[in-house]
Amino acid sequence: MRCVRHQGPALPAPASGAIHARSAACGDAAGGTRSFFAAAARQPCRCREKELTAFTYRDGELHAENVPLSAIAAQYGTPCYVYSRASLETAFREYDDAFAGIDHLVCYALKANSNLAILDLFARLGSGFDIVSGGELARVIAAGGDPAKVVFSGVGKTAGEMRQALDAGILCFNVESDGELARLDSVAREAGKRAPVSIRVNPDVDPKTHPYIATGLKESKFGVAYDDAIALYRSAARMRGLAVQGVDIHIGSQITELEPYREAVVKVLDLVDALRKDGIALTHVDLGGGLGIRYREEHPVRISEYAEMVRDLFAGRSERLLFEPGRRLVGAAGVLLTKVEFLKPGEARNFAIVDAAMNDLLRPSLYDAWHPVDAVRPRAGEVREWEIVGPICESGDFLAHDRHLALAPGDLLAIGAAGAYGQVMSSNYNSRPRACEVVVDNRQTHLVRRREAVAELFAHENLLPNA
Ligand code: LLP
Repeated sequence: MRCVRHQGPALPAPASGAIHARSAACGDAAGGTRSFFAAAARQPCRCREKELTAFTYRDGELHAENVPLSAIAAQYGTPCYVYSRASLETAFREYDDAFAGIDHLVCYALKANSNLAILDLFARLGSGFDIVSGGELARVIAAGGDPAKVVFSGVGKTAGEMRQALDAGILCFNVESDGELARLDSVAREAGKRAPVSIRVNPDVDPKTHPYIATGLKESKFGVAYDDAIALYRSAARMRGLAVQGVDIHIGSQITELEPYREAVVKVLDLVDALRKDGIALTHVDLGGGLGIRYREEHPVRISEYAEMVRDLFAGRSERLLFEPGRRLVGAAGVLLTKVEFLKPGEARNFAIVDAAMNDLLRPSLYDAWHPVDAVRPRAGEVREWEIVGPICESGDFLAHDRHLALAPGDLLAIGAAGAYGQVMSSNYNSRPRACEVVVDNRQTHLVRRREAVAELFAHENLLPNA
């Protein structure tokens, strides 16, 4: 695949001034604490699937596409999420193109990053969307996305959300329980409509990922038990408010192996065949999302390998394929830019206190997730081992442990692979305004979400009346 900006050859590795580099979603480069981005640029990309990593060092400074990150910090302040348009587009096209020639729809799971600019970008590339709330549906519509390309997942859809999605004319409801099926039937009949449904089946496979983001095991709250699925389909087929259309699975997130997918797809296709014999013909199969990216030393599954497996398993079949990727489309496309406020070396540990915190990027605190942290302008000087922490009054407020860096107050740091489940999981804890978001497009920058103002944080609150 070629770089979306430069149409250059995939290899050799980048010349100064170009955006070309290896893909941060590819697992080829050494991770480690030295420099995620420098390592990524040095190593030739074994997978050759993509050549674009938007974040590269040039003239001693980390750039997003062709803009130095220090210029972004100067213009927009820190903390700030910075995304590369080229990287976003490349990731979407790579996924979509892998299934060229077969009837499919990529439905971006916007829970990973729901900024309107990103939704608009993907909508323009033909994307559908996987939503999990009425709020996300409103975002898709506000961004100009097509509701007819929306699937609605999630275990707790309210009657109001169902009605909203029916009125918008979404493609399918991914139903997760018998209670939800009955509620959807009644809401649809009341509205004089038939709701298109797919049942989310729990294939009981181990995706070998963090327990908080494994969803396809028996123990999980998601989906209906595999053995109960046929009975549920029969009852759905009898409901006048429903039109049974498909089946869906989503076995977990940050999955770096192909086998769990194969196991799940084989099981789900057995179910589709059993249903057909039973007189229930499904027209689509939704394989969910979950493909991982490289945060450190993972070797993520190549999209081409995943597509090959899917093509093999679906050879000779007629069902349309739906996908719900989130992280894989946006994760590598973003960094969180932050400034070192203070250095606090100590006997047991050295703390680098930065202006981003767990409210801006929760993944390290919540999942013990590892994100690369690199200096925007690496300096000469003593390299020490640092705890990278924020100003929040919690010991759990850390962004990274044990990073070897030469630092001085005022230095800028880039926290990598932060495009997915970064800004969307941010909060106002400690009354901190949420960070701004900037999209870089070659030499241009666009503010796609301004920093919150402090007054906005309590604008919805009221004082009690005098006693
Ligand atoms: N479809 C469904 C039904 C999902 O529940 C999810 C993610 C996706 C698609 C997209 O999965 P992806 O392709 O992004 O792996 N906050 C966690 C990740 C939670 C994922 C929840 N569901 C994290 O920061 O790692």
